[in-house]
Amino acid sequence: MAKQLRSVGIAGLGMYVPERVLTNRDLETLVDTTDDWIVTRTGIRERRIAGEHEATSDLAFPAAREALQRAGVAPDGGDLDLIIVATCTGDMQSFPATASLLQERLGTRRAAAFDVAAVCSGFVYAMEVGAQFIATGAYENVLVVGAETMSRVLDWSDRSTCILFGDGAGAVVLRACPEGEGILGSVLGSDGSGAALLNVPAGGSRRPLTPALIEQKQQYLMMKGREVFRFAVEIMGEAAVQALDKAGLTPGDVDLFIPHQANTRIIDAAAKRLGLAPDKVFVNVDRYGNTSAASIPMALYEAWRDGRIRPGDVVVTVGFGAGLSWGASVIRWGDVTWTP
Ligand code: UT7
Repeated sequence: MAKQLRSVGIAGLGMYVPERVLTNRDLETLVDTTDDWIVTRTGIRERRIAGEHEATSDLAFPAAREALQRAGVAPDGGDLDLIIVATCTGDMQSFPATASLLQERLGTRRAAAFDVAAVCSGFVYAMEVGAQFIATGAYENVLVVGAETMSRVLDWSDRSTCILFGDGAGAVVLRACPEGEGILGSVLGSDGSGAALLNVPAGGSRRPLTPALIEQKQQYLMMKGREVFRFAVEIMGEAAVQALDKAGLTPGDVDLFIPHQANTRIIDAAAKRLGLAPDKVFVNVDRYGNTSAASIPMALYEAWRDGRIRPGDVVVTVGFGAGLSWGASVIRWGDVTWTP
């Protein structure tokens, strides 16, 4: 007989951003750009930048600690089963996983730990992976973190990319929940034929770093912005509709749309395709820029903190990015209310 799967919901959330704010005006002094160009083309006004000695696990740690505390899970008490960190800017080039480094900081010894590499779609992927362990009954408490120090992989002389990204972290604790709540439907997808549109060319096994490659700045993020833009607008609406369909819902049922925070023009176009009014769309890209895998959990956290999500609401998250990759989840919010 097939085993009954459990429903999986969010039991706690946390967020952390580094203190340093880099405004568009600051960028005007670094590259040939203007505040007006950046705001008009992207909606971004400022972003956070990690300190010199702050790595991705340092941003993940306070976010994770808050999410665990809010979920009532003591990290050193043996109740945390699994830590997944979605990141493309781990503390180390290859290994160990940033999730293992985070585990050490949290003081938990027993939990399994690994990273998920799906770039800007990483949090949606990681949440889906974590949810499977709970759905089957294998685990009870899973910590999922999206954390990035994108500032470390940017070419600060390239105006077409350095203005777009920022650093930060968001975290959730997943746990079994009553049927009809939690993750109601989700889709994950990728199209590797688009890998050349957005990548870090050197530093991996294909092109290990050499002084010549460093001279050519091949260790930094490269992007064909216009092509990624086109893909993003198309996939955001498509993935959201597919996930809603799996949940037996339509765009008309959505209380809050929480898209990957890359660009307000992309977000507006996707919302328009879904027929969603602006008050049903959450945007914080103006304050943080594109924080890759951290963008959705940070937006989810702020929407919840600001009272934009209430118990029973249908929330849709959609991520997209390098790979190319994408993912969408439909969540019916449980009884997780904000307390300062
Ligand atoms: O997580 C997923 C990651 N990626 C994305 O979501 C990015 C998706 N793409 C985008 O958001 C947009 O394509 C960008 C914001 C990156 C660029 O906007 P665009 O409207 O596609 O501009 P463009 O690349 O077509 O460039 C238009 C002009 C160019 O000048 P010319 O060739 O027309 O003379 C650029 O050189 O704007 C110029 N430009 C800038 N000007 C001032 C590019 N960057 C800047 C800048 N300041 N920072």
